[in-house]
Amino acid sequence: KQNKSNHNNIINTYLLLQPTATDTTQRLGDLRSEMIKSDFQAYIIPSSDAHLSEYLAPSEKRRVWISGFTGSAGTAVVTLTKAAMWTDGRYFLQAEQELDCNWSLMKIGEQGVPTIEEWLVQELGPGMNVGGNPFLFSIELWLIYASNLASGGVALNQSIPDIVDNVWTDRPPLDGDEVVVLPVQYAGVEWTDKLLDVRKEMKSAAVDYLLLTVLDENAWFFNLRGSDIPYTPVFTSYTVIGMTDVVLFGNMSYFAKQEIKDHLAKQEIGCESNNTCATVQPYENARPYLQQLTTTQSNAIFWLPSDGTTYGMYSVVDEDHQISDISPLKIPKSVKNSKEIEAMRQAHIYDAVALCEYLQWLEINVPKGTVDELNGAEKVKNLRLAQPTSKGLSFGSISASGPNAAIIHYRSTPETNRPLTTTEVYMIDSGGQYFEGTTDVTRSVHFGTPTDFEKEAFTRVLMGQIDTQSAIFPYTKDGNYLDMLARRHLYDVGLEYRHGTGHGVGQYLCIHEYPPGIGNAVGGGYPLQPGMFTSVEPGFYQDGEFGIRIENVNVVVEAVTEHNFGGYKFYTFDPVTLAPIQLKMINVDLLSDKQIKYLNDYHKKVEVIVGEEALRQNKPELKDWIQKATVPLARGTSTRNNISWSIMIFIAAVCTMVNVSLE
Ligand SMILES: *[C@@H]1O[C@H](CO)[C@@H](O)[C@H](O)[C@H]1NC(C)=O
Ligand SMILES: *[C@@H]1O[C@H](CO)[C@@H](O)[C@H](O)[C@H]1NC(C)=O
Ligand SMILES: *[C@@H]1O[C@H](CO)[C@@H](O)[C@H](O)[C@H]1NC(C)=O
Ligand SMILES: *[C@@H]1O[C@H](CO)[C@@H](O)[C@H](O)[C@H]1NC(C)=O
Ligand SMILES: *[C@@H]1O[C@H](CO)[C@@H](O)[C@H](O)[C@H]1NC(C)=O
Repeated sequence: KQNKSNHNNIINTYLLLQPTATDTTQRLGDLRSEMIKSDFQAYIIPSSDAHLSEYLAPSEKRRVWISGFTGSAGTAVVTLTKAAMWTDGRYFLQAEQELDCNWSLMKIGEQGVPTIEEWLVQELGPGMNVGGNPFLFSIELWLIYASNLASGGVALNQSIPDIVDNVWTDRPPLDGDEVVVLPVQYAGVEWTDKLLDVRKEMKSAAVDYLLLTVLDENAWFFNLRGSDIPYTPVFTSYTVIGMTDVVLFGNMSYFAKQEIKDHLAKQEIGCESNNTCATVQPYENARPYLQQLTTTQSNAIFWLPSDGTTYGMYSVVDEDHQISDISPLKIPKSVKNSKEIEAMRQAHIYDAVALCEYLQWLEINVPKGTVDELNGAEKVKNLRLAQPTSKGLSFGSISASGPNAAIIHYRSTPETNRPLTTTEVYMIDSGGQYFEGTTDVTRSVHFGTPTDFEKEAFTRVLMGQIDTQSAIFPYTKDGNYLDMLARRHLYDVGLEYRHGTGHGVGQYLCIHEYPPGIGNAVGGGYPLQPGMFTSVEPGFYQDGEFGIRIENVNVVVEAVTEHNFGGYKFYTFDPVTLAPIQLKMINVDLLSDKQIKYLNDYHKKVEVIVGEEALRQNKPELKDWIQKATVPLARGTSTRNNISWSIMIFIAAVCTMVNVSLE
């Protein structure tokens, strides 16, 4: 223990001495010149892109560029004399290390720290203007800022173009290069059929036009995939759907290929005759197009989805000409059809082969002392890339050894990299993109002898996962309803984890897709339905010592029940992630018979399905490894029992000896 804390102190000191901050003097000076030209006395730079994406393309990381702060959450505010960064507790240390002395750090949630609006009102005073790029704010956020600022006499003004872009001279180009068609064998439905469904929804909502802003909705709607954003196969675009037309706005060179042209305007099904041919326009035209519609069709009603429209688009349509509701694509996208489900299952089988190969490789190499977090992550990445139809990773792997795994959103760096050893728990949370689907899986493993507490924590996490996955629940319930099942065995002994239990997953799309999820603010109020996918990923983290998480992706399926109260449908989960749970981490005595049977049935499936795929890929040793990793658990075969037997024999022997000596 002593050794460990010394080690941490050394790492911290080392980090603080690093020149981790970016010199922002020039950038701030340039931005301030632009602010003066536009008559803004302050400028807000949030961390989003124009489609409110979770992961950003490098060209969209404006807040990172202006400040040097690379954390995923933070808002920069620059006045003519000051610069301040608001971020939350996850990032205080990192922000201190990365911001230079031109910046003050505003620690959200700490006593006496003003909100952005309070600070601006105090710094500027009435009659002043604050600028911001309206495409980087959700409708709600912009309206809140504007109203709070207005009450202090400060105006919030739209800045188009973004003046940060005027001064960001070495801004990286967009990452993407093309879009590809997702074949209907994986998508299940032609996009033109989705169009007709959407128009039905539009008709019943009495709207004339629907705007799609969120990139995975554009990609899903058109059965197209792109490569503009790391880990996420989307392309930068807007779609405006009318009752007789549909316009896709994006990089015109993506749509120039004949295959894409034919896909967007399906002449073979006579798309002209039923208004299902899409036309394309340059990305920049989207806002002017919407604006023009509001004048050429002055009675038209617009559906600007409340959950994915930016203020930049919202502000061109009069409020009394729009409805604000969630996107009509949101639920259909998350309820996968039978082809999508089949494809997702296939993606998870490929992924399981890669993960099993990795676990097998670790068993051989960790004891040699040659594996660390970074080269481990590289290894599992390469194994995924070698799978048929691999399209890269679905997020940056979390490869965490010992105490590093207790940091929930840990990312290994050369400074924090730890070796994998036979004395610590190792956690690997990783996933891939495949043409068929998106995967996300976590396993926690030990290559020596885990402590009793590590085993207990692991087993309770596993019990929560099993209870959640095997839960049968009526069709009226959302995922949040099930959250307690995942935690109760930890609660029983006063343990807990500070994160949600599950999130939805896209089909060859975003790693986080909502509304499906468990114990997740955004998923509330949307009942789970067959075809929805969600991860189930309870965990336990002992600060400074170890971290455990077990994560499977599951599909909601209909349950077979003995009764059928009120004609209700009942649902349950089927795990599509197929990777062994390490047996030596389990304390069998804690498991119920039902949990043991569930785990054994699951492992049987892993053995058969992944084993077959391993053979198909000509990897017989992998099949053997899988077979060993999935042997059925039974009571009375655990090490503990073996030890107690040994102790009893030992005691008996001692007694015999004592008896003998007494005689
Ligand atoms: C930023 O800080 C440096 C020194 O820490 C100072 O020399 C410079 O003038 C500051 N730049 C601006 C734009 O305030
Ligand atoms: C900012 O908005 C206010 C209020 O709408 C307006 O009076 C002012 O002219 C605008 N200023 C700029 C620089 O756009
Ligand atoms: C459009 O895509 C091409 C590659 O297909 C790329 O070279 C170009 O930079 C892109 N244009 C924009 C504005 O992103
Ligand atoms: C109209 O649209 C549907 C749906 O995509 C398609 O199946 C049909 O063949 C199209 N053409 C005509 C002429 O109806
Ligand atoms: C316990 O002992 C039995 C009999 O010697 C053996 O078959 C079994 O593998 C042992 N179990 C463990 C977990 O070591």
